[in-house]
Amino acid sequence: MKLNICLLPGDGIGPEVMDQAVKVLEKTAGIFGFGLQTTTKLIGGAAIDATGGPLPEDTVAACKAADAVLLGAVGGPKWDEIDKAIRPERGLLGIRKALGLFANLRPATLFEELKHACLLRADIAAKGIDVLIVRELTGGAYFGEPRGEEVRGGERVAFNNMIYSEHEIERIARVGFEAARKRGKRLCSVDKANVLDVSQLWREVVIRVAKDYPDVELSHMYVDNAAMQLVRAPAQFDVIVTENLFGDILSDEASVITGSIGMLPSASLGASGPGLYEPIHGSAPDIAGKDLANPLATILSVAMMLRHSLDMPEAAASIEGAVKSVLKEDFRTGDIMQEGATQVGCVKMGDLVAERIAK
Ligand code: NAD
Ligand code: IPM
Ligand code: MN
Repeated sequence: MKLNICLLPGDGIGPEVMDQAVKVLEKTAGIFGFGLQTTTKLIGGAAIDATGGPLPEDTVAACKAADAVLLGAVGGPKWDEIDKAIRPERGLLGIRKALGLFANLRPATLFEELKHACLLRADIAAKGIDVLIVRELTGGAYFGEPRGEEVRGGERVAFNNMIYSEHEIERIARVGFEAARKRGKRLCSVDKANVLDVSQLWREVVIRVAKDYPDVELSHMYVDNAAMQLVRAPAQFDVIVTENLFGDILSDEASVITGSIGMLPSASLGASGPGLYEPIHGSAPDIAGKDLANPLATILSVAMMLRHSLDMPEAAASIEGAVKSVLKEDFRTGDIMQEGATQVGCVKMGDLVAERIAK
């Protein structure tokens, strides 16, 4: 068997964390005996510089032809002033849309070894954090039409449209329920149904879908309260399902309570076709090119790829085990550094994980 993986390193620390993830993937392929063929394509600012646009057609074609896609990160100050229609971030949104990746799984887990890095009180950290955020990824304010800018009453106004159809809500709700069924059987749907029409429809549809999942306990929470509860008592959550923008914000919040945004992987999945795997963090321009980035979020995204798209749970578990070993041996990148630990750079962290992959 030969797996065809499309690599999209992107910008900033994207290529740095990608190199480490590929190193770990290659080592895993060797140990578990599967063939690997990788194709590297342009996206984001790197694509703008080379081709004038953030998502070249041959990138989309290569992703569609792949078994799975691995992405680093896009964006950076160099491209902040360009025409908004071709910003690097549009490349990422474009590939999500082109592949129909409506479900974004963002697991926030506090590793035992990183309890010190948790920003919460020790008694809260002691209860553990293991939340799966299921974020809708191809709808809401990110894609709603109409969007744009116009002049009203002599001044500029700009607008986006948070819009969801019943079928979009239903399919992401089902992903949430299915995920909860495989975990703690509790699903919390996060919305703003006390204010937004779109959230009222969201809640109605989620309640309707719940009838098919009597074994899963459904609760609802307003997003402002959810933001507060995530830091007050994160152990109360099992699976959270929410719309695109709320999920973007809550997952950054969840990441930092588990230690660092450099630790959180994600999987973006559609109804069929290749999935896309990426760390939830961005291109981190402040540390790019300095060998300071934490590659573990991208390495853990490779594990998610092996589990969700390639049906290789043992290989996935071996990567997760290797990450835990490295942390147990007190190796840390700067973002999760603690007194008495050994600080390593991005490349060394990749080496340490790769060395520990075993069957
Ligand atoms: P960011 O996630 O890039 O960085 C936020 C902070 O976290 C920075 O201090 C950074 O140094 C730190 N950080 C992020 N990843 C890290 C890692 N792996 N190891 C150690 N520290 C890490 O968010 P930002 O600064 O708001 O955005 C920078 C650029 O990235 C922007 O252009 C933004 O649009 C883009 N972005 C892209 C993605 C993506 O490609 N998926 C996600 C978020 C932001
Ligand atoms: C993420 C990022 C993206 C998003 C941006 C860069 C388009 O923040 O993957 O979380 O908002 O989805
Ligand atoms: Mn984000």
